[in-house]
Amino acid sequence: MKTTISVIKADIGSIGGHICPSARLMETVDNYLSEHGSDLLSDRYVSYTGDDIAIVSTHQRGANNERIHKLCWEAFMAGTEVAKSQGLYGAGQDLLKDSFAGNVRGMGPAVAELEFEERPNEPFLFFAADKTDPGAYNFPLYMAFADPMNTPGLMLSPSMAEGFRFVIMDVNYTEGDRVIDLNAPEDLYSIATLLRDPERYVVESIWSRGAREQSVAVSTSRLHNIAGKYTGKDDPVMLVRVQKDFPATGEVLAPFAIGHYVAGSMRGSHQMPLMPVPLNSGISYFDGPPVVSCAAFAMHQGKMTEPVDAFAHPFWDTVRKQVSKKAIGMRQQGFFGAAMLPMSELEYTGIVEKLDVLDKRFTVRRSV
Ligand code: F6R
Ligand code: MG
Ligand code: MG
Repeated sequence: MKTTISVIKADIGSIGGHICPSARLMETVDNYLSEHGSDLLSDRYVSYTGDDIAIVSTHQRGANNERIHKLCWEAFMAGTEVAKSQGLYGAGQDLLKDSFAGNVRGMGPAVAELEFEERPNEPFLFFAADKTDPGAYNFPLYMAFADPMNTPGLMLSPSMAEGFRFVIMDVNYTEGDRVIDLNAPEDLYSIATLLRDPERYVVESIWSRGAREQSVAVSTSRLHNIAGKYTGKDDPVMLVRVQKDFPATGEVLAPFAIGHYVAGSMRGSHQMPLMPVPLNSGISYFDGPPVVSCAAFAMHQGKMTEPVDAFAHPFWDTVRKQVSKKAIGMRQQGFFGAAMLPMSELEYTGIVEKLDVLDKRFTVRRSV
């Protein structure tokens, strides 16, 4: 019997603007799942990262299962009522449709799911990021699965010798899922060519070519494509099975020590470094910096151990200090150049509207 891990995540309201959900909101979502999900789920873990609540569930019903998705959608609906009653900011913000239609994909919440035959021991990592978008994982995934400078397992481990298959999605395409399969190492330059543009090309999944098993699933939804306008950053979640045929936990975590620049932060319109934070952390400086959390689990027959907080270790305190310095450094140049996103990615229309007005006032000086 295959096990499925489903992560379904949504922003349904938060305290103090976009900082974090309230304790009552968290309790409401969790209680809803325990009251209505006990016959459906093998296990669950509910946490928040910034203003987003993620439900990690395990079950035997496969990916895209209507009952699992409906359960999570309704838990978020129940939470939204509490968010409204407490006056939380952006109550129900990510629930973009009025009624549930078979599957939460395309309805607002982010989804990442893995379905597999469990190994005798099954270590996996659950990542959640806030104030950024799904391309934020492009860089660490490239490093962990394609670069022996980061991942010695690519040289040392015979079971990783054949490399990995990257499935990359063109998230600008809205008629359906436009994807390409590329193999590391032989397609390395093609993979790099796509992943350098993280607002358009996003890693959706990664597979071991030797074991033909899936390691990675990333949520790829872009809310503005669903709503037809910006409704907030997409705040992606990711599942990564680790060890044996896959990179080791430390190889997957290592690239996050760089604090690479990602799209997001204030008004979803800036470039800021991604800070690894402990589980259930909120947001602060300049509506950011963008944050990522990681819960490590072991699992047996769908039962998860308690989560281990991978970024709570003292090592990451130094990283957080460095990322803070990078964030302050970038903010010193205000709106100039690399500090802000290109026009196509700005979360507000003000600049485009002003440019339209100004454009009419330009004159062409006649040459003498
Ligand atoms: C993501 C997030 C941001 C906001 C954006 C605009 O969690 O909170 O992407 O959606 O900063 O926020 P407003 O316009 O509500 O200040
Ligand atoms: Mg938000
Ligand atoms: Mg968010």
